[in-house]
Amino acid sequence: MNVPLLAIAEGERADRDAFRRDVLAGLAGSPRAIPAKYLYDARGSALFDAICEQPEYYPTRTEAAILRRHADEIARLAGPGCALVEYGSGSSVKTRLLLGAMPDLHAYVPIDISRQHLDATARRLREDYPGLRVDPVTGDYMALDALPPTIDDARRIGFFPGSTIGNLMPEEAVLFLRRARRLLRTDGALILGVDLKKDPRRLHDAYNDRAGITAQFTLNLLRRMNRELEANFDLSAFAHDAFYNEAAGRIEIYFRSLRNQTVTVADRRFTFVEGERVHTEYSYKYDDAGIAELARKGGFSIAASWTDHARLFAVFFLR
Ligand code: AVJ
Repeated sequence: MNVPLLAIAEGERADRDAFRRDVLAGLAGSPRAIPAKYLYDARGSALFDAICEQPEYYPTRTEAAILRRHADEIARLAGPGCALVEYGSGSSVKTRLLLGAMPDLHAYVPIDISRQHLDATARRLREDYPGLRVDPVTGDYMALDALPPTIDDARRIGFFPGSTIGNLMPEEAVLFLRRARRLLRTDGALILGVDLKKDPRRLHDAYNDRAGITAQFTLNLLRRMNRELEANFDLSAFAHDAFYNEAAGRIEIYFRSLRNQTVTVADRRFTFVEGERVHTEYSYKYDDAGIAELARKGGFSIAASWTDHARLFAVFFLR
């Protein structure tokens, strides 16, 4: 596909404008917060991939093992000739675990905000799965309300792995599910990966790896603001701060100012006192009852679920 250079430049400018707007609003707000989606520029995405390989970060490998082990049953539930629609596909690593078990797929529709990522991934998938129709959609899956017409009347099976749903507030997660239900239609289904509640120490360690990769991931947001918004954050004057809030059932992640300081962002000055935090992520953890409630409020019911022996992570098949 040929995309005119001007269209790319305009797209980048719009992205930059949205980033500036959201950062300035987030730093002016109280409490201060910046939306988690901005963590994923090229460097942030690479750092997230590195997080997934850390020994403390169990979700990725645990979910992959569940998908690998139960791919045939998942494929049977999805049925023949369906369209697999992935929310936030990244490099589609986990998708491959399902694609092998779904040889008669009508189409694979990866949705991602990064067009570069999406194009490269689509190219590789077409090479590795000849005959597979790959119809990528660039955009924010939270705002998406149509799919490529090429998927025709195929049954639509959503795929939302990685416990990315945990980044959403529970009310937002319900809204996401309602939208997904509309997009996937009445006969559709959703394969949902969810990180489960567990020993708080285990959760804490997963977001405070010894190699410090998660800290780099959080602080990369400051680097991105420096580069894209002409900010002057001193990266050594802020720290990654992540902990499990047991009452709320969520990991909370912030960057914290290590001293009193003033930072300029897009020509505006922001003062930070020592210890002040800026929120970057929530990562909600669920149990079966919590997911059943989300599903019900979102218009789905649990048709099947699979977990690992230690019950660290679960994959749900929602209808
Ligand atoms: C991609 C949202 C599932 O919450 O575990 C990992 C993001 N942030 N370490 C998660 C994340 C820091 C991750 N999700």
